[in-house]
Amino acid sequence: MQFPVKRGAPVSQKSACAILPLFDGGPLQGVTLDFDTATAGRIAQFVKSGNASGTLGRTAFIHDLNGTDADCALLVGCAERDEFGAKQLRTALGAAAVALGKTGIGNAIAYFAHERLAGVDAYYSARLSVETFSSKLYRFDELKSKPGPRPKFSRLGLSAPDSDAARKLRRGAADGAAIAAGVELARDLGNRPANICTPAHLAGVAREIANNYEDFEIEVIDELEMQKLGMGSLLSVTHGAEEPAQLIVLNYRGAPNGAQPVALCGKGITFDTGGISIKPGAKMDEMKFDMCGAASVLGTMKALGELNAPVNVIALVPACENMPGGRATRPGDIVRSMSGQTIEILNTDAEGRLILADALTYAKRFEPSHIIDIATLTGACVMALGKVYTGLFTNDEELAVRLLDAGRRSLDPAWRLPADDEYGESMKSNFADFANLGARYAGASSAAHFLSRFADRKGWAHLDIAGTAWLEGERKGATGRPVPLLVDFLLNL
Ligand code: BES
Ligand code: MN
Ligand code: ZN
Repeated sequence: MQFPVKRGAPVSQKSACAILPLFDGGPLQGVTLDFDTATAGRIAQFVKSGNASGTLGRTAFIHDLNGTDADCALLVGCAERDEFGAKQLRTALGAAAVALGKTGIGNAIAYFAHERLAGVDAYYSARLSVETFSSKLYRFDELKSKPGPRPKFSRLGLSAPDSDAARKLRRGAADGAAIAAGVELARDLGNRPANICTPAHLAGVAREIANNYEDFEIEVIDELEMQKLGMGSLLSVTHGAEEPAQLIVLNYRGAPNGAQPVALCGKGITFDTGGISIKPGAKMDEMKFDMCGAASVLGTMKALGELNAPVNVIALVPACENMPGGRATRPGDIVRSMSGQTIEILNTDAEGRLILADALTYAKRFEPSHIIDIATLTGACVMALGKVYTGLFTNDEELAVRLLDAGRRSLDPAWRLPADDEYGESMKSNFADFANLGARYAGASSAAHFLSRFADRKGWAHLDIAGTAWLEGERKGATGRPVPLLVDFLLNL
């Protein structure tokens, strides 16, 4: 999809559809009023007769807009004028995208940048517009024998009131398109089933990124090499699987040499049966999404490549299946991690922390300024935060602020939860250094504490995306979160 920035009088801009805001109460204003004036009161009359309202997200088309260069208008309810901010913009534009997607309309121009938005500048309004349109028009039908009709929509113009706004809109649209490409990749990977999206498939996608963009290097570590590196914790998870495990190391050097990289570690369990501690059957299909941490890391790397972003980032993706089988790890088995710490595996379903343990240890050899891991780690995090906030755990106050701010700005929010040493007390073991399972309560925090034993330094953060990485029910599918948060964080370093 294209997102050109438009200048000049709104009513004289040529488009198949003008997307116009309609606020609750009061007379028409701004660009919507300009269109009303140019059409001799057509819009006011349309609203007065009850065909449209300012209810947030309500949409209505007006055809035959004589007097303007738009073929039609799409009025979008935006609620209260004074309360119109980023979230409302996303809801309104999302509704516009859905409405346009059902028509044969191929292009439109949006006029939201002419409004004063509470707490949103032109840059973010453009970025959010692009992300919202791309995401609402996303379809996953590569595995349907008869894919549904593709939306015809291919171009969203962003109208700028002045040249300063035009500059910001252009920057926002470019960043938004890159983020959208990353989100789309993360969603595709998440939505692909485990018989297609294998560890080797993830490695292939990482290789593609390295080949298609500049400043990337890739290495994929196989099981033999993992053994040599002493990654007993990671290897213990893949024992029951036939599909070979992969540790993907994708290095992006966009900043001048010498700058310390940020390390991103993504949990890449391509299917989580629970292993010998097997999961109950209900909704087990959703465990194909257990590689969404990995997908978000690869999506973020793609966005950085698209943008030629001036940062150094090293992506580490431990990828394998968690399967039962004759060679599978048993509850009670004790393994030695690459860090030298021994782990008693009391529950083979607490496998995410086991693969991340060795990936975090490995990350340290790149001397990163920050290590951020992203994982669909615990059901407990879903219980605590639902599908609204990603769980953030960190021992670094400054990093907490940066990540929380990035989440707020990109409307991909995180909420901080604790990971203090007290949460590790219930993971004591009589036989090994500690166990991989804690007490019944605060499971998201004990899991985070387990990881902190391997990150073992300041500048580490853990994002538990078990709730936010995918939706259930009718809208079942990967969300691409937290690609927007991660890209925003990296662009603001
Ligand atoms: N991948 C799951 C976490 C998960 C469960 C995410 C449900 C989203 C929805 C993880 O590997 C897991 O099984 N965690 C266990 C840990 C427990 C055994 C300590 C959990 O949360 O139940
Ligand atoms: Mn599990
Ligand atoms: Zn898992």
